[in-house]
Amino acid sequence: MWPDSDSASAKLYARAEQVEPGGINRLQTWQEPFPVYAASGAGAYVTDVDGVRRLDLANNFASLMHGHAHPAITAAVTEQIARGSCFILPTESEIFLAELLCARVEGFERVRFCNTGTEAVMIALKAARARTGRPKIAKLEGAYHGMYDFAEISLDSGPETWGNVPRSVPYTQGVPKGVIEDTVVIPYNDTDAAARILRGQGPEIAGILIDPVSLSCGMIPLEQNFIDMVQAVAAETGALVIFDEVVTFRLGPQGAQGLYGAKPDLTTLGKIVGGGFPVAAIAGHAEAMGVFDHRAGKPLNPSSGTFTANPVGMTAGRIALELMTEAEYARMDALGERARAGLRAAMDEAGYPGQVAGLGSMFRIHTSARPMKTYRDTFPTPAEAEATTKLQRDLLLAGFITTTKGCFISTPTTEADIDAFVEAAKGCFAKLATAA
Ligand SMILES: Cc1ncc(COP(=O)(O)O)c(C=O)c1O
Repeated sequence: MWPDSDSASAKLYARAEQVEPGGINRLQTWQEPFPVYAASGAGAYVTDVDGVRRLDLANNFASLMHGHAHPAITAAVTEQIARGSCFILPTESEIFLAELLCARVEGFERVRFCNTGTEAVMIALKAARARTGRPKIAKLEGAYHGMYDFAEISLDSGPETWGNVPRSVPYTQGVPKGVIEDTVVIPYNDTDAAARILRGQGPEIAGILIDPVSLSCGMIPLEQNFIDMVQAVAAETGALVIFDEVVTFRLGPQGAQGLYGAKPDLTTLGKIVGGGFPVAAIAGHAEAMGVFDHRAGKPLNPSSGTFTANPVGMTAGRIALELMTEAEYARMDALGERARAGLRAAMDEAGYPGQVAGLGSMFRIHTSARPMKTYRDTFPTPAEAEATTKLQRDLLLAGFITTTKGCFISTPTTEADIDAFVEAAKGCFAKLATAA
């Protein structure tokens, strides 16, 4: 079994290395010394190619609200595939999913579908520019929003590059100068400093992109006064407020904006809205979404895509969201709280000085007890990063799939599953405490 060199995963990786760069297709699947290959998933569990079954708390990085192969989603999708998987003609399925989203969230009056969160963020940023005629985008230091150049700026800036007032730090080599100059970076959860920067560049900023609970900023929620400030400054300067709820839409029927009582102009959605299939969307009030409307000639922001709104994803997304009743959200919140409280108690018992962040069905273990509010507070020292990686690996060996950026509970997960996870984590904390 993994990580043995004669395991089925080792054999698959040896083949993959010959045909895929680094032997993988996505950075998040990487695991030293080679990835664990999945064979199948059912409910909250995944079985790997060596027959080892593990509780899945990654759920494809927050995208599977109902775990694997939920019977209702599988049945509906199978039935749809038998009738065709995509057409040049629209189908009723896209109307169903858009109606459902608009009925749930007060600020959603129109929805435009695409396939990935990266695309949704890219389209929303372009929409903000098209609507305002301005070039600049403001984004949070440290926040991940997918792979669009502008959204990647200062994604992983560190002490050696970030500057006193956050600098625009390119994420990769060769980023065009214009992208760096036209991306305004604001500090996560530092309301006064962010307001100063936004007001300073106000007339040039098209959109302010924020993730209310950014995973790459430690899963520390933005404070209410930060969100209120963003909305107030945007109202003053004429910028659009864009919430990236690709992850946080799992927090409640109206996503994080419902929890904050916020009304962004545009919201990007992804992950759970596809019920396990590649679906993403931009949603917002009719006026902001008017940039996509073609009826008066070429739209201000034409957006298109061959597989957008395909009926397979639309159907899966509709069923996945229909299953998320108010009661189900409450049950998920309680499971999340059970995990957070259990992990905190486990750290205490093991004498390990860490902390647990998160809310709703999401939680994040930090290998530092330092108070955390901003991205910079959450930025790990090399020793903390190493401990986080070790913890993820030890949990994997103990039968639990997690990520270093956080865990995301699915509806088939039980209290007993959470308790077993907490117990295993306690053992891992004790090991880390001894090693420290
Ligand atoms: C907040 C946020 N926005 C956007 C994205 C990009 O989504 P995708 O991976 O579907 O392109 C992610 C992916 O993890 C995300 O976490």
